[in-house]
Amino acid sequence: MRAKRILSVVVTALFLFGAAEAVAKHGEKPTVKKAILLVAFGTSDPEAAKAFDLVEKRARLGFPGVELRWAYTSRMIRAKLAKEGRTLDSPETALARLMSDGFTHVAVLSLHTIPGEEFHELYQNAHLFGQMAGGFQRILVARPLLSSAKDMETVAQVLLQNIPGRKAGEAVIFMGHGTEHHPADAVYLAMNQVFQELDSIAYVAAVEGSNSLENVIPKLKKRKVKKVFLVPLMSVAGDHAKNDMAGDEADSWKSILAEKGFKVEPILKGSAEHPEIVDVWLEHLKAAFSHF
Ligand code: CO
Repeated sequence: MRAKRILSVVVTALFLFGAAEAVAKHGEKPTVKKAILLVAFGTSDPEAAKAFDLVEKRARLGFPGVELRWAYTSRMIRAKLAKEGRTLDSPETALARLMSDGFTHVAVLSLHTIPGEEFHELYQNAHLFGQMAGGFQRILVARPLLSSAKDMETVAQVLLQNIPGRKAGEAVIFMGHGTEHHPADAVYLAMNQVFQELDSIAYVAAVEGSNSLENVIPKLKKRKVKKVFLVPLMSVAGDHAKNDMAGDEADSWKSILAEKGFKVEPILKGSAEHPEIVDVWLEHLKAAFSHF
């Protein structure tokens, strides 16, 4: 399948490791101290943050006794949380802290859905931390959620099984984020194909990026669909899900589809709220951690 081949090229190109030998500081014995850094775009919504609680809970079960810290990539969200008295580090600040706290092996788990722009940035900076003298012995970045055909199939199956009340002939559109600036946008096309093979009226469209809602609407009409479920294909049901997907504004997906005569039912549940999907991320973390 062409889309899957594109994906594997994109993922392989991005999946590189940073490693550097650490030298014991003068008079100190070299000890091994392992840590996990969980990285997400972030959210300021307590409802959406439940997804991160689930990730943390399962990560603690999977890696007992290992230091676990969080970082948010979004400066806007960090600033908003800071006003509420909650300090969240950027990945770079969190890595600097881990380094000065003497951690030697760090596995970074990106809660991103695709290996896109934000993942790439995170990877690049983690790699640079790995090159610092006297710092980490090893730092590895685990793959994001949709990194193989198997991941895509698992995620698609779990999401399709969790649409309460859906009847035959009712369609689903999964809202991906999408990107116009990164080749990993192709992952959404691959994911659309995976959904289509499991369920011929399940589609992926993206807020940004090449596969828009406008591409899907004629397909719904052709299949004489009357009702459409909307589900985020994002780790949390945050701002995009609440506003761009399910909001009451005229330009939300819900409003656009309703205006075209479809019955619409949004489901505000992020993919990281499903334990089986969290486990796909954690498998990637285990794969990275197994190198320590
Ligand atoms: Co966005």
